[in-house]
Amino acid sequence: MNGTAFKVSELIGKAAEKLKNISETPRLDAEILLAKALGTNRFGLFTKYNEEAGDKAAELFASFLERRMNFEPVAYITNEKEFFEDTFFVDSRVLIPRPESEFIVEKAADLLKNTEKADVLDICCGSGCIGLSIKRAGGCRLTLSDISENALEVAKINAARLFPASTDISFVQSDLFSNISGKFDIITANPPYLSEKDMKNFVVKELEFEPENAFFGGKTGFEITEKILYSVHNFLKSGGYFITELGFEGSNFINKNYDGIELTEIIKDYSGINRAALFRKV
Ligand SMILES: C[S@@+](CC[C@H](N)C(=O)[O-])C[C@H]1O[C@@H](n2cnc3c(N)ncnc32)[C@H](O)[C@@H]1O
Repeated sequence: MNGTAFKVSELIGKAAEKLKNISETPRLDAEILLAKALGTNRFGLFTKYNEEAGDKAAELFASFLERRMNFEPVAYITNEKEFFEDTFFVDSRVLIPRPESEFIVEKAADLLKNTEKADVLDICCGSGCIGLSIKRAGGCRLTLSDISENALEVAKINAARLFPASTDISFVQSDLFSNISGKFDIITANPPYLSEKDMKNFVVKELEFEPENAFFGGKTGFEITEKILYSVHNFLKSGGYFITELGFEGSNFINKNYDGIELTEIIKDYSGINRAALFRKV
C-alpha cells in the first residue's frame, strides 16, 4: 500500500471493507489500528481525516491489518485496552479486559467509599485491571495474585505505569489462596468460568489468541469459583466482602451455604444479565 497515494479516510474505508469478513466492528477496528500506526488516538485520527497517511504509517497499518485479518484481537496488536478509567498494557500473556468486569470495580468502589485505607486482594488478576481500577477509584493497599507468572509480569507493568510512585501494591504468584496470607476488606475475582460445553460453543477464532487458563473453569465452569467460595472467608476481615464475576449460568450454581460468608447481592448488568455476586463475611 503506498501511503502517499491514500488519505486517512480512504485507508479506513478500504480496511473496513476488508475487515467486514472477519470482524463485527470493522470500521472501529480500522480506526483504532490506523490511529496506532499514526501514533495518535481516534480523536487525533479524525483531525487528520483528509490528510495523506504517509508511507511509514501506511506500511505499519498494512502489517496490523494482516494480523487482524488472521483473527488476532485488536488489543494484542496495539498492546492496549481501555478499562474503567485507564488504558492497560496487554499482550498474549493475559486475558483482554472485558467491559462487563467493570461492574466489580464499581461495586468495590462503592463499598470502599467511606474507608480510609482498605486492604484489597484481586485474585486471578491477569493484567491487574480490576484491582488497579479499584485502587484508582478508592485508594487502597493492593495485592494482585495469579497462578501465572507471565500474567503477573503484565500486572507489574500496569502497576508501574499507572501508579509509578506507589509502594503499597504487592504481587503474589499463587494457586488461588495457596500462597496468600493476611486478611482483606475486599477480595475480588474474575476466575476462569467457561464450561466444557462453552469451550466448544464459544471459543471462536479470536479467543484462541488468549491464554486458555484464563477461560476454562472445569466441567461445569463453576469449579474454580466454587473452590474460592469455600475458602475465601479465611482471608476476609470481619465485615469484609468478596465479589466474583459469574459465568453464563454461574448464578444457578451458587449454593447458599458456604462457610463464613453469605450471598448479599447478585449484580446485574444494564441488560439484566447476572454478571457478578457479592458475598459478605458473617
Ligand atoms: C478470566 S481471567 C481474568 C483476568 C483479569 N482479572 C481480568 O478480569 O481481565 C482469569 C485469570 O485467572 C488466572 N488463573 C487461572 N487459574 C488460576 C488459579 N488456580 N489460581 C490463580 N489464578 C488462576 C489466569 O491465569 C487468568 O489470568
